[in-house]
Amino acid sequence: MYILGIESSCDETAASIVQDGRKIISNVVYSQAEEHGLYGGVVPEIASRRHIDAISEVVQKTLDEAGLGVNDLEAVACTFGPGLIGALLVGINYAKGLSFASGKPLVPVHHLRGHIAALYLTYPQLKPPFLCLVASGGHSHIVAVDDYTHFRVIGQTIDDAAGEAFDKVSRTLGLGYPGGPAIAKAALTGDKDKYKLPTPHTENRYDVSFSGLKTAVINIHNTNNMKGEETDINSLAAAFQEKIADILSDNLAAAAQNFGYDKVATAGGVSANTRLRQLIEQKIGDRQFFAPQMRLCGDNGAMIAARGYYEYLAGNTAGLDLNGVASLPIDFK
Ligand code: KG4
Ligand code: ZN
Repeated sequence: MYILGIESSCDETAASIVQDGRKIISNVVYSQAEEHGLYGGVVPEIASRRHIDAISEVVQKTLDEAGLGVNDLEAVACTFGPGLIGALLVGINYAKGLSFASGKPLVPVHHLRGHIAALYLTYPQLKPPFLCLVASGGHSHIVAVDDYTHFRVIGQTIDDAAGEAFDKVSRTLGLGYPGGPAIAKAALTGDKDKYKLPTPHTENRYDVSFSGLKTAVINIHNTNNMKGEETDINSLAAAFQEKIADILSDNLAAAAQNFGYDKVATAGGVSANTRLRQLIEQKIGDRQFFAPQMRLCGDNGAMIAARGYYEYLAGNTAGLDLNGVASLPIDFK
């Protein structure tokens, strides 16, 4: 069963065809990151316009690379939330048009459920239940994946998401957008112990708070600037990455232990962080660890098609009145 997945919730225009939720047949990602980089972060209005420019070509290319036509598809899946509303609407409306013209069912997909489905593409044998840290530009959730359609949030950020903190700190340190890869690269030649950063406290053991941490990094840099002293950017980047990776991996490992999961996973843009992966593996002991292939960590259409397969099997289709939803819990009914 072939499903087309369309993703346009942020700054990637992406489409992919996946077979039976597990096998990528074609996968096309057009990233707008370079243009947003000029402004230090995603500019929603520009994102919507670039999606409009790119979407027809991206979907056509996906079909061409797969050697398939719309009639070969079982269904058309698209991200409907959470995300930037103007950006989401481009993918949703394109999917609606295809669905209407072809008579194929329209399948709405939650973006974070999509990130989790990237694991099914990387590990065709992986089955729930497992515990997953979903860390992206907008979220830092620890999710209990009870089965293919049941998700429970164990912990989440109470302010900035992990990726958002990476992006903001990177901008302040002059390292560019997207911040995650830039900070990870700078950290390679930095001394993570040179700067001491605070460990934020949260009431729920599994929640995270990165806003104070981000401010602490920015303050160190600004204070140095005012004193005319140079910041060791690479070491500050290394200290920041270490702290975030340490907090996220600690919470995930503790949750796996306390809730009794023997399979532990991570997904989302931030899961591309090598230090985060290392620390998780170190802390979970004998438990099995799963992380998406690097190319499937960031936003892509394959994860939406894979997720679309499980939504479709569960009968979750939508009518042509489907709308975008800017903020949407992962356990929505
Ligand atoms: O999942 P994603 O592509 O888009 C959203 O759903 O938000 O995640 C993007 C986020 C950005 O904040 C980016 O800086 C971060 O993922 N990211 C990373 C790395 N690669 C991307 N963060 C830390 N380390 C990385 N290697
Ligand atoms: Zn994402």
